[in-house]
Amino acid sequence: MRSEIEGKADFEQIRYAQLWEDADVLNRALGHRPGARLVSICSAGDNALAMLLLDPERVIAIDLSAAQVACLHLRIAMLRRLDHGEFLELMGSRPSERRASLLDRASADLPERDCSFWRSQKDAIVAHGLGGIGKFERYFRLFRQVFLPLVHSQKTVADVFRSRPGPERETFMRQRWNSWRWRLLLNVFFSNFTMGRLGRDPAFFDHVEGSAAQHVARRIEHAAIDLDPADNPYLHWILTGRHGRALPLAWRPEHYDTIRSRLDRLDVRHSPLEDVIAGGQRFDGFNLSDIFEYMSLVVFENVYGSILAAAEPQARLVYWNMMVPRRVPISFRDRVRTLSDIEISGKAQDKAFFYSDFVVEEVLP
Ligand SMILES: C[S@@+](CC[C@H](N)C(=O)[O-])C[C@H]1O[C@@H](n2cnc3c(N)ncnc32)[C@H](O)[C@@H]1O
Repeated sequence: MRSEIEGKADFEQIRYAQLWEDADVLNRALGHRPGARLVSICSAGDNALAMLLLDPERVIAIDLSAAQVACLHLRIAMLRRLDHGEFLELMGSRPSERRASLLDRASADLPERDCSFWRSQKDAIVAHGLGGIGKFERYFRLFRQVFLPLVHSQKTVADVFRSRPGPERETFMRQRWNSWRWRLLLNVFFSNFTMGRLGRDPAFFDHVEGSAAQHVARRIEHAAIDLDPADNPYLHWILTGRHGRALPLAWRPEHYDTIRSRLDRLDVRHSPLEDVIAGGQRFDGFNLSDIFEYMSLVVFENVYGSILAAAEPQARLVYWNMMVPRRVPISFRDRVRTLSDIEISGKAQDKAFFYSDFVVEEVLP
C-alpha cells in the first residue's frame, strides 16, 4: 500500500536529526513488556532505541525516508564503536573538537552508500553535532541564533535552566521571559506560514486548523512552569543548541550498556508502516509518533484498521497529535479502550511541548 504522505512531501533530506517526542512518556505508556514484539516509527531512531529498555523480543523500526533510517543505522554503529562520552560529543549534546574523527570511526563498518551519505553531511555534523542537522533542528537554530537574541540576553536564556521551585518559575516567566518582544516573536516565528516553510513540509499542514503560535505558547508555559526546565533536554537544545544535565532517555549514561546489549533485537526497515503491518505478523505495541496527523481522515481510518488487524489483544497504540485531532475512529470504538489515566499523566509529564494531545489506546481481548 502506498503511503499517502509519500507522494506529497520531500524525503530526500534528514527532517528530524533527533527525536522530538518524549521517550519517558512513550515507554511508560507502552508499559514494561518483556518478550513483546513492538513496532516503532523510526524518525531519527532514538525512541526505537529507548523501547529496547522495555526488554522486548523485537522492535521493528520503520520509516519511509531513507535518510531517517540512515540516522538509526548510524546510531547503532555509534553505540557499537564509541563510548558514552564520545556518543554525546558526536550527537552534539556536548561541545567537541573531534566530531570528524568520531564520525569516521563510528561509520567505518557501514555500507558505502551510508558512508557517502554521511560524508556529505560531515561539515554540518562537525559544526552542530549529528542531532542538529535535520530540517527541524535548522529551524530551531535559526530561531536561536537570529531571533532569540533580539528578545533575550544569553544570561536570561541560561537562567531558564537554573533549577527553582514552581512558584519562582512562574515569577521568572511572567517577569523576565514573557515580554512583549517574546510574544511578538512567538506569533511571527510559530505562525503556520513560517513553520510550514521552515520547519515542516507545507504538505503536513494540509489538515491543520488553528494557530501553531497559540499551541506553542501554551505548551511552553507548561514546559517552563509546571515542569522544571533543568530536567528538560528538548527545551535545553532549542534554546542553547546542546544538552545540559538532562538527556533524552536513550542517550542517558545509565542506559548505554543495556541498549548496546540489545541492539540485535532491532529490525530496521525502510518501508511505509502500511506495508509492514500488512505482512501477517502480530504485535504487542505500536509507537506511531504523530503520523496520523499527516493523513486525511479516510486514510487514517484505513490505516488504523490495518493496525488493529496486526495487533495482539491488549496491544497498545501510542501516538501524539500536534494540531490535527486524531483518536480512534468511531467505526473502531468497540475494539479498543482509551487508557485515560496514562494519557493524563503522560501529558502532564511530557517534556516535548509541541503536541496538543497524547493518545494511548489498548486493543480489547
Ligand atoms: C511523523 S514524523 C514526526 C517526527 C517527530 N515529531 C519527531 O520528533 O521525530 C516521524 C517520521 O515518520 C515518518 N513517516 C510518516 N508517515 C509514515 C508512514 N506511513 N510509514 C512510515 N514512516 C512514516 C517520516 O518519514 C518521519 O521520519
